[in-house]
Order: sequence, then C-alpha cells, then structure tokens
Amino acid sequence: MLRFWCTRVPINHRQKEIQVGKHITSERLDSSPGNRALDQLYYTDAEIYQREIEDIFLRSWIYAGHVSEIPQTGDWFVFELADESVIITRGKENELNALVNVCRHRGSRICLQSRGCSKRLVCRYHGWSYELDGRLSHAAYMGDGFDKSEISLKRLHVEVLEGMIYINFSDHPAPFDLLRNAMTECLLPYRLDNARVAHRQSYPIKANWKLSLENYSECYHCAPSHPEYSKGHSLARPWEHRLDLQEEVLSRAGACGLSDQEFCQINLQAEGFGADYAYERHAMWQGHVTGSEDGQPVAPLMGTISAYDGGATDFQIGPVTFALAYCDHVVIYRFTPVSLDRSECDISWLVNGDAEEGKDYDVEKLTWLWDVTTAADKRIIENNAAGVKSRFYRPGPLSIMETRTGMFIDWYLDTIGRE
Ligand code: FES
Ligand SMILES: [Fe+2]
Repeated sequence: MLRFWCTRVPINHRQKEIQVGKHITSERLDSSPGNRALDQLYYTDAEIYQREIEDIFLRSWIYAGHVSEIPQTGDWFVFELADESVIITRGKENELNALVNVCRHRGSRICLQSRGCSKRLVCRYHGWSYELDGRLSHAAYMGDGFDKSEISLKRLHVEVLEGMIYINFSDHPAPFDLLRNAMTECLLPYRLDNARVAHRQSYPIKANWKLSLENYSECYHCAPSHPEYSKGHSLARPWEHRLDLQEEVLSRAGACGLSDQEFCQINLQAEGFGADYAYERHAMWQGHVTGSEDGQPVAPLMGTISAYDGGATDFQIGPVTFALAYCDHVVIYRFTPVSLDRSECDISWLVNGDAEEGKDYDVEKLTWLWDVTTAADKRIIENNAAGVKSRFYRPGPLSIMETRTGMFIDWYLDTIGRE
C-alpha cells in the first residue's frame, strides 16, 4: 500500500516488443510508459515466472532479517524465497554468514526450523555437519581420499545496513555501497543498528508477487480499502489536498533530527541492478503522530529523534524491501514470490533496543495498524488475482495516484524484456 510522490524517472520510452520465452507480448511502452496494468500473461505464465526468479530475485539485494534476531554466536534463522532457502548465522568471530540451505552431500535441506541456536549445522539425513561459516566439519565413513576442507556450503554475499541484513544470490551483485551511500544518512536518526524486532509476521498471499508489489506501490486504494490507515496518513489523498500540511511537517522534521529530503532511484539497470532506493517523509493528519489506532505514541522515540514532527517516512531499500518509519517504531516490509501464484509479505516491527515489552510498548497496540491494513491488503490482492485470471481481463489505465505502480511496471518490463 503506498505511496511515493517523487518524480517519475523514465527509462526507455520507446516502442518495442518484449520477448519472453516463446511469447512475444504486444507493445506497451508507448508515449506514456507504465500507464496501464500488466497483461494477464505476466501473472500466469510459468516461463515468465522462472525468468523473474533468475533476472530479478537472484540478482537483487533483499532484506533477510535484522541483527537483533541473531545476537549470539550460534544463532541462525532461515530466509526462504521461491525454491531457495538460506541460513543466516552468527559465526564464532561474531560475523554474519549467508549459507544456502542445501547439504553438499546429496542435497537435503539442513535447517528445517525457521530459527534456532546451535554450535554446528547438522544435516539430519546422513549426519554431515558444518561450521557456522559453512565449512564441512564432519562426515562419517567417507574413505581416505575424502578431503573435507574442499567442501563447504554455498556462501552468498551478505551486507549489513544499519542493523538490516541484506543478502544477494548473485556471484557478482551490484555494489552494496549504492544503497549504503544513499540511505545511511536518512536512516541514522532511527539507530536501527541498536533497534530490535518486537514482532514479526508473515502474510501468505494467494497471488503472483507482482500484484502484491503493485498494490504496495500505490495509495489510490487507501481511501476505499484502508479506513484505519486513511484516518491518520495524508498519503491517502492526492498531493494537492495536503501540500500545506506537508510543508508544515517538513519544516519541523529537521528540528526533530529527521531528514526532509526526497529522492528516488528505482529504475536502476546494468551495474546498479537490484539496489534501488527511495526516501520520502510525508505528513500525518493533525492529531496523529504515529501509525497507531488513535495516532498516539506506542513506543519510546527511536534513536536520536528528539520529538514527534507529525510525519512518517517511506523508505525503499532494494527492489522488494520497504520500511515505514515512524518516530517511535519502524515497520519493515518484504515481498517475495513463493510460486507463480503465491507470494509472501513478511513484516517486522522494530522498536528501540532498550524498550521493554509490557513496560514501554504493548505488541498488540504496536502492530494493530499494519496488521489490520495488511490483512485488508491480502484480501484485495487475492481478489485482484482472481480477477486477472479471467479470460475477460484487460489491463486498465492507471490513475495519477498510481505513479509508483507505473514506475514499477516500467522497471519490471525493461528488466524482463532485456535480452
Ligand atoms: S544429504 Fe545431508 S548428509 Fe546426506
Ligand atoms: Fe494497502
């Protein structure tokens, strides 16, 4: 559901045919790119889906989790995306490792739970065990010629941005510094490196992942579908209805320790592919200072933020990761495909590292708004998925409140259509 109002950053606005597998789609990037929804094919074709996994998800920086989830040596959690599964461990040197959850013997999954703590990672099938950094430490009855030092779990690139753990499946990913340089200053006031996850929840959605992302990228649907969100957030209305309020909030942001910049770079291709980012602070309606049921604080102020300015920040950090940052908590969103017609929305609610549950915050109050809003999103996305399967579905025109959805479609078509 959301949100940015930054200027469209156009890519190639040219007539072209997009060839995907055996299909050639009709021309769509005419004088106004991204001005229509996607053709049905993109939601239903298995070949296109496989290409998306290869060309988008296995090349992008993706949020896997937060450092507070694995604070001690031996802690690990599993991140799943389509057919892939990755174990994120905290190693003996306090380092973070991203290891493909596929045993180097005969390929079994190794960690079968979503999280845990152990000295080694042991495959239950034949008992091979691995160090926390992926090196094989023990394999029984393998004979004299067997050299275990030559075997280790496949390691992925892993980076940390203000406590947020990002992974990339590619052997040659885009430089993570693109994200780090662009986002660090704006993230700094929240001190996410000292924050902790107060609650996590996954919302399985019976829809192709693009329908989930398209929905998140616009707030055209907010007024009709999210009364709880629209009560407090001015983004539910077109920008001309909230200009004065926006100026007022941005004039206060600096004094509260927050950035009033606005930028987006979400059509990156070539060397930058998979490191897209955006930032915008937007006003909340008067009387609302945070994203809660009554608009009142639900946790202590984050990091170095000194007061409530009446705004909230929308971050995009990588192509499928977003953060909605309030002065007293931060909500991180990640969208991933499960299969062609299934996706997952994973949400983490972060509070200051020293905030105590029951004393400083109540999980139900903290999570109320985005739980109720995401449950509604799940419903509307699934209804959308049912509709686009119809033989009578035709892509309709987008509203000016769906600019970011149009930008996503441009980016997607350019990526998928590239030879
Ligand atoms: S498949 Fe893991 S030990 Fe055999
Ligand atoms: Fe929504």
